[in-house]
Amino acid sequence: MSTETTPGAPATCPLNFDHYDHALQDDPYPTYARLRNEAPLYHNEEHDFWVISRHSDVREAFRVDDVYSNKMGVTLDKSAWNPNAHIVMSFLGMDPPQQTRLRKLVSRGFTPKRVAEMEPRIAKISQEYLDRALALGPEFDWIKDFAGKFPMDVISEMLGVPAEDRDEVRRLADLLVLREDGLRDVPQAGMDASMELFGYFSKLLATRKATPQDDLVTALMLAEDEGDRMSDGELTAFLFLMVVAGNETTTKLLGNAVASISRHPEQRAAVFADPELVGPWIEETLRFEASSQLLARQTIADVTIGDVTCPAGSQILFNIGAANHDTDVFTDAEEFNLHRDKGELAKHIAFGGGRHFCLGANLARLEATIALRQLIEQCSSIEPKYDEAQRFYSANVRGYASLPVTVTPR
Ligand code: HEM
Repeated sequence: MSTETTPGAPATCPLNFDHYDHALQDDPYPTYARLRNEAPLYHNEEHDFWVISRHSDVREAFRVDDVYSNKMGVTLDKSAWNPNAHIVMSFLGMDPPQQTRLRKLVSRGFTPKRVAEMEPRIAKISQEYLDRALALGPEFDWIKDFAGKFPMDVISEMLGVPAEDRDEVRRLADLLVLREDGLRDVPQAGMDASMELFGYFSKLLATRKATPQDDLVTALMLAEDEGDRMSDGELTAFLFLMVVAGNETTTKLLGNAVASISRHPEQRAAVFADPELVGPWIEETLRFEASSQLLARQTIADVTIGDVTCPAGSQILFNIGAANHDTDVFTDAEEFNLHRDKGELAKHIAFGGGRHFCLGANLARLEATIALRQLIEQCSSIEPKYDEAQRFYSANVRGYASLPVTVTPR
C-alpha cells in the first residue's frame, strides 16, 4: 500500500476523476495522487469507466495477455470507441494475432536503420524552423513557431509527402486533435480533417504504386512476410496512425521540456552548459509530463485490485501520468529532477509497454535530441512567459498550445 500524502487535494472531498474536465487538466497530479492512494481501481459511476493509476498495476496491465483489449480503440471519445477502431488506428486498435501480423509487416519498412538515416534530414528541418523562429527576435512562441511545426514535417519527410503538400497535411493533422471543454467526442472539424487526410494518403499510395520512391510509403508497400503483404486499406490506416501517434506527442514533449526545466533555473543552466544532459532532460520530461497521459482498453476478463472488481466488458483507462508520479517508484516524484538516478528514470512508462510499446520511441527521442541540442547551440537560455502560455486541452494528451518564450542568443 502506498504511503504518500496528497498534495493540494484534501482527502475529505469526494474523489471525482473525469479526464474531459479542463479544470482537472490544468493540474491533474493531486487527483492522480488520490487515485493511487485511495482508489487504485477507480470507477467513475456517472460515465461508467474505470482507471488504474499505480505504476505496478499499469506496467503489469500493458504486459498481460487476455485481460485488456485494444479492439475498441484507445480513447473513450464516443465516436472513436467502436469495434472498427482499427480502420483508422491500424494495429493500435487490434489484439494479437492481427496486431502481431501487421506490426511485423510495418517493422520491415519502419526499421531502426531507416530512422537513424533520417538524422541529417531531421536536423535540417529542425534548423530551418529554429532559424525562422530566431529571426522573429528573442521573443517567439516555442510551440506555434517551432515545436508545433517540426514533428509533422519529419513524418511527412519520412513518408515521402512532397514539400508543397506539407503545410496542408500539417493543418489537417492539427485539426484532428482539437477538443472543446465538456465535449466527450471528436468535433466535426476533426472528423472532416480525418476524411481529408485519409483521402490524401490514399492518393499518395496510388502515386507511389505508379512510381516507387526511396521513402517509407514505398518501403511499406513492398514489405513482405512469407508472401503476405499489407492491403491498401491497411497501408492507409497505418499512415494515418503515424500522424495520430507521432505528431502532437512529440510537439508536446518539446513544449513540456522547456516549460518544466525552466521552473528550475539551476537545472536549466546545467543543461545549457552541457549538451550531454539533453538525454536525461528528455527522459525526465517524459516521466514528469508524459505527452500521452491516458490510454483506454476494454476489459475482456474481470480485473480485481484490493477488494474492488471491474467486470469484463468495461471501459478502463491506463493512467500513465499517474504511474510516472508514483512515489513507490520515483524519489520526490512530484519534482522535476534532471539529475534523477538513471535506473529510476528508466522505469517511466511514457512510451507504454508490452505488445503495443511505441513504435516511434526512437524517432521521438532522436527528434527531441536534435531540436534541443540545436536550441542549446544557438541560445544560452530560454525563459517561458508562463502567464501567457495556453494549455492544450485534451482528454489524453498533455502539453501546451502556446508557450511564448524569450531566448538569449549566444
Ligand atoms: C514523445 C513522443 C511519443 C510518445 C510519448 C508516444 C507514446 C506512445 C504510447 C504510450 C504508445 C502505446 C499506446 C497503447 O498502448 O495504447 C504508443 C504507440 C505507438 N506510437 Fe508512439 N509516442 C510518441 C511518438 C511517436 C512517433 C514519433 C511515432 C511515429 C511516427 C509513434 C508511433 C507509434 C505507433 C505506430 C504506436 C502503436 C504501436 C502498436 O500499437 O503496436 N509514436 N506511443
